[in-house]
Formats: sequence, structure tokens, C-alpha cells
Amino acid sequence: MDLSSQLIEKLQKKTARVAVLGMGYVGLPFATVFAEAGFEVIGIDPIQEKMDRLNRGESYIMDVPTEQVARLVKAGKLKGTSDYAVLKDIDAVAICVPTPLRQTGDPDLSFIINAAEGLAPYVHAGMVVVLESSTYPGTTRELVLPALTEKSGLVAGENVFIAFSPERVDPGREDWTTKNTPKVIGGITEKCTEVSAAWYAQALDKVVPVTSTEVAEMAKLLENTFRMINIGFVNELALMCDRLGVDVWEVIDAAATKPFGFMKFQPGPGLGGHCIPIDPLYLSWKLHSLNYTARFIELASEINLSMPRFVITKVQDGLNEHQKSLKGSNVLVLGAAYKPDIDDLRESPAIDVIMLLQEKGAKVSYHDPYIPSIKLDKGKIESVPDMMKAVKSADCVVIITNHKVYDYAAILKESKLIIDTRNALGKAGAKNDKVVRL
Ligand SMILES: NC(=O)c1ccc[n+]([C@@H]2O[C@H](COP(=O)([O-])OP(=O)(O)OC[C@H]3O[C@@H](n4cnc5c(N)ncnc54)[C@H](O)[C@@H]3O)[C@@H](O)[C@H]2O)c1
Repeated sequence: MDLSSQLIEKLQKKTARVAVLGMGYVGLPFATVFAEAGFEVIGIDPIQEKMDRLNRGESYIMDVPTEQVARLVKAGKLKGTSDYAVLKDIDAVAICVPTPLRQTGDPDLSFIINAAEGLAPYVHAGMVVVLESSTYPGTTRELVLPALTEKSGLVAGENVFIAFSPERVDPGREDWTTKNTPKVIGGITEKCTEVSAAWYAQALDKVVPVTSTEVAEMAKLLENTFRMINIGFVNELALMCDRLGVDVWEVIDAAATKPFGFMKFQPGPGLGGHCIPIDPLYLSWKLHSLNYTARFIELASEINLSMPRFVITKVQDGLNEHQKSLKGSNVLVLGAAYKPDIDDLRESPAIDVIMLLQEKGAKVSYHDPYIPSIKLDKGKIESVPDMMKAVKSADCVVIITNHKVYDYAAILKESKLIIDTRNALGKAGAKNDKVVRL
């Protein structure tokens, strides 16, 4: 039996040992799904505190229940470490490290490079490695492949199997999870695709093999760029409706009654999260290096980035109606996470809105049940302990994230002025003079 067949057999029998590099929002759910399927999984993360919590049987990600982690840890199916040396006995590795942007807006690939270089001394014949992090087309072949094969002398598709499979997890979502969301996977060679797909099929409901790592990388960027451009378009629709004096929310709801050929997107205070505002910029950066300008991406990005300033003009206009200036007014921002019902602040437009309000001299406070504090350029601020008390005393309440736990009827009743950037108040807000909607 050749090496690939031996590895596939080990994967099918679940005797293969699995490691996950990067145990965050993607890595921990991924590790639990594979542990749940019967594999012995070891998570590797430089943040020792996360690994200690994992080994105590605690979850630190909202979507993963602590009871599940505790059960898997107790059964010996899941554990964590910060030590890469464990990789020498591992058969299958998933890399789930961050891919943020640098201050300059360029991709920061240092996490992928560090993970690949950290894995390199332990890579061995009969190992399968899959990169999960969202990145530009070409990353797996240009960065991961040489790191794992140049010094080791291994050959992809012959004795080591390397692939890319984009993670699609949508935190906070219960209907589509890591397990049941179809998983695209493309290898450096056909054999790499075959082996990695055989691994993933042991734990995930549907695996979609494609012919190369580049196709898999680009598919992820198509998905996220599609969302980012459509959100940019609907944000511009909000700007146009504002000029026309037309209710953008009613327009969108009316258009969404068309049963075909239309997909509903909603405007808001700006883009947030680790994927939608960032991944398309990986693509446009790569295209720049090939002397091509990704025009739709750049235009949508410009509109999306302008939204926090548009929110500030709405706050100013609203206060103006109450004979107040923004400078010196008490402004309460409600919701800071980048989307409802989650605890992730990354790239949230709330940060820009708060800093712009502070720049204009407003006295800003915020409340978010899931985000206890926010680090800003000018120090840290903490979520107010009593939300309704803060609503009552604020000159203006700005709804940035429409968390479900908020009692919007009570907020509407007790506030003096509300800027509703998410249509959280719905029809009640449309009819009320003290509410300004996007
Ligand atoms: N969060 C999401 O909703 C989501 C969805 C789809 C895709 N993604 C993509 O998945 C990737 C990971 O995102 P995330 O949200 O899980 O990030 P995260 O920051 O929550 O987790 C990444 C983890 O990697 C660890 N890490 C950093 N360097 C490491 C290294 N050299 N070795 C091992 N671990 C290392 C970090 O300490 C962190 O715990 C990104 O590329 C992201 O774009 C994220």
C-alpha cells in the first residue's frame, strides 16, 4: 500500500492524530467537531491561558458549549498545548491562524508564515496539512508549500499532502455550523486533494473537492467579496435615499418581496468582523501586484469606510433639532460587537463611531452585554453597568449593534433622541419623531 492509501486508511479508522494550529473562533469549533467524530485532537496556540482553560474543560468561544469541551477533554479526545514539539507524532494538521491587515492596509501574513515555519521541523512523510485561514489566491503554494518541503525534502502529493480549505463559520449561527456547512477543499496536487478530502469527510457532512488550492482560496474570496460589495451597494442606497428623503428600510423590504433575482442586504454603520472588511483587500492587494485594480472592491470599501462619518452627521443633525451641539453632549453607543449576539469586537464600526464622537468633543459612553471594555487610541473605556440608567441620562442614544437581548420598546420610551443605524426599532422607530434612522 502506498503512503497516501495508508494515511487515508488511518484517517478512516480515526486512528490518525489531529492537530489544530490556532485555537480561536475557527480553531476551537473545528477541533471539537473532529474530536466529536472520534479523532484524538490536540490544539496548539501560543496563548497559554487559552490552552489552560481548554485543559480545564472550559470553552472560551461563545458558539462552543463548555459542557462539550469538558466531556471531550475528560474522554481524552481533546487537549491543548503551546508546544509545537507534539507535532512530531501528528498525522493531520489544520492551520487556523489569523490573517489580519497591517496598519498600512496590506495583508499581514506573518501568522501563516510563523505557523508554517513552526510546523516545518516536525513535518514528516505521511502527514496531511490543510490551511484554513482566509487569504489571497496563491498563499498555500507560495508560502506553505516551500516552508514544508524545501528543507524536509518531502514532495507534495507523494509523501506529504498539502491543501487549502476555507473556513466558512458564521459565529452566533445555529442552523449552519462547522459540521454541516459544505467544505470546499483543493490540494497542491490531485493526490493532496484526495487525501485531505478523505480526512475532512470523516467529520464534516459534505466535502466539495476542487482542482487546486488557488480555486479553493479564490472561492472564499468570491463569497466574502460578494457580501462586501453588496453591503457597500446597499450602504450607498442608504446615502441616496437620505438625499431623496425616502425610507431605505421600507424600500429594501418592498424589493425583498420579489421571489427571485433579488437578495436582501442591509445597510449599517460600517463593516466589521474578521472576514468581510478584510478578505477582499487581500484580493485587491494581490491584484495590485499584477498591475490590476480591483475596482468594485475599492469602491465598495470606500463607501463602507465612510459610513461611521455618516452616522456622526446623523447624530449632529439629531442633536441640532434639540438645540444641542455634539460637543459636550452625552452620547451613549448601544452595542459594540460587529454583529448581533456575539462577543467579537474585531474591526467593529462601533470603534470608529466612538472615536469620531470623542474627536468632536462628545462625552461618550457605551453598553454591550458581551464586550466589557474597549481599548481605544486614547485609553480604555468600560461598558456602563446600568444600561437603562445611561439611556435615560443620554442626550442621544446611537444603536450600532442590534443585540436581541435589548428591550427596544423600553429604550424608545426612556430616551430623548435615538440614532438607529440598524433599524432595530423597526416600525416603532419609523413613526417616532425622536428617532433618526439611517
Ligand atoms: N472568525 C470567523 O468568523 C472566521 C470565519 C471564517 C474564516 N475565518 C478566518 O479564519 C482564520 C482564523 O480566524 P479566527 O477568527 O479563528 O482568529 P482568532 O484570532 O480567533 O484565532 C486565531 C488563533 O491563532 C493563534 N495563533 C497565532 N499565531 C499562531 C501560531 N503561529 N501557531 C498557533 N496558533 C497561533 C492566536 O493566538 C489565536 O488564538 C482567519 O484567517 C480568519 O479570516 C474566520
